[in-house]
Amino acid sequence: MATGEPTRPATTGTDPRPRTPVAVLGLGLMGAALAGALLGSGHPVTVWNRTPGRDADLLERGAARADSAAHAAASAPLVVLCVLDHAAARGVLEPLADVLAGRTLVNLTSGTPEEAAETAAWAEARGIAYLDGAIMATPQHVGAAGTAVLYSGPGAAFDEHRDTLLRLGGASAHLGEAPGLASLYDTALLGLMWASLAGWAHGAALLRAEGVAATRFTPFALHWLGAVGGFFEFLTPQVDSGSYPPDATLDVQVAALRHLVHASRARGVDTTLPDAVGLLMERAIAAGHGGASFGAVTEVLTAPAPAPAPAPAP
Ligand SMILES: NC(=O)c1ccc[n+]([C@@H]2O[C@H](COP(=O)([O-])OP(=O)(O)OC[C@H]3O[C@@H](n4cnc5c(N)ncnc54)[C@H](OP(=O)(O)O)[C@@H]3O)[C@@H](O)[C@H]2O)c1
Repeated sequence: MATGEPTRPATTGTDPRPRTPVAVLGLGLMGAALAGALLGSGHPVTVWNRTPGRDADLLERGAARADSAAHAAASAPLVVLCVLDHAAARGVLEPLADVLAGRTLVNLTSGTPEEAAETAAWAEARGIAYLDGAIMATPQHVGAAGTAVLYSGPGAAFDEHRDTLLRLGGASAHLGEAPGLASLYDTALLGLMWASLAGWAHGAALLRAEGVAATRFTPFALHWLGAVGGFFEFLTPQVDSGSYPPDATLDVQVAALRHLVHASRARGVDTTLPDAVGLLMERAIAAGHGGASFGAVTEVLTAPAPAPAPAPAP
């Protein structure tokens, strides 16, 4: 049974809007941060975690403890789930179908668009309003004005709980009704993050080979990232229209990339990253886009991959 089970919306401070009671299932690093942000903005919060003992801090801050996921879910019209992965999420949810019916379930567990669609279909068949979400932040930034949590699923469910959901991240957005959208954006944005981190790591390794510390390189990297953001803006309408007038052609850019490969090899720095980028550029050039901007690379990314070249004769 949930102890001190909240039943009525509360209000807080000078903001007279009632605070919806929320159940938070899963108190790992992220689930605890979500529950903490909701408590901090005045929501009655009931918490549950598979392994007991992870709620001491939250209880001190006013959360109610539920002794089962079902009791937690029964305590609130809005149920937030954040566990390790899709399999864990489904394991928690399956026994809760009856208690979740008529409530809104927000699943902030990371997964694929296909997993989101599967859970959305499960929820819809059981009368549960289902929003899938992706948290574009680490736990310490949950609840901040600049933090984005991306949501997809029924717009009516998002609108009903908009104020509450924006308290988890002020820059949050509802992307559309298709349940996999939040996860699709999440994977795309993480891909951008990893490509950027790999580029930064490559640059740091290249300069370290000449005795230059990362502390000297990083300010230049950050300044350059601002310019790279401008390139995104320049290329965006080109990618949407499929027409790629160049500011710098792929032919010119691939030649510059070869300088990076050369400089790396000369200093014993691994060339996996520039080789991969060069491969994409060369595929675009082979497809006739040598005189086009970098945006034309998207054409070969969506085209079927070419058959592997035959092995060279011995
Ligand atoms: N941490 C981040 O920076 C971050 C950022 C964005 C998104 N996320 C996503 O948020 C989710 C949680 O991440 P986290 O950092 O909070 O991980 P975490 O600290 O490792 O916590 C994992 C949580 O999942 C629970 N869990 C694992 N397997 C379970 C099962 N079979 N049944 C029920 N509960 C289970 C754990 O419960 P026990 O305590 O019982 O083990 C714990 O509450 C992940 O999907 C992650 O990708 C995390």
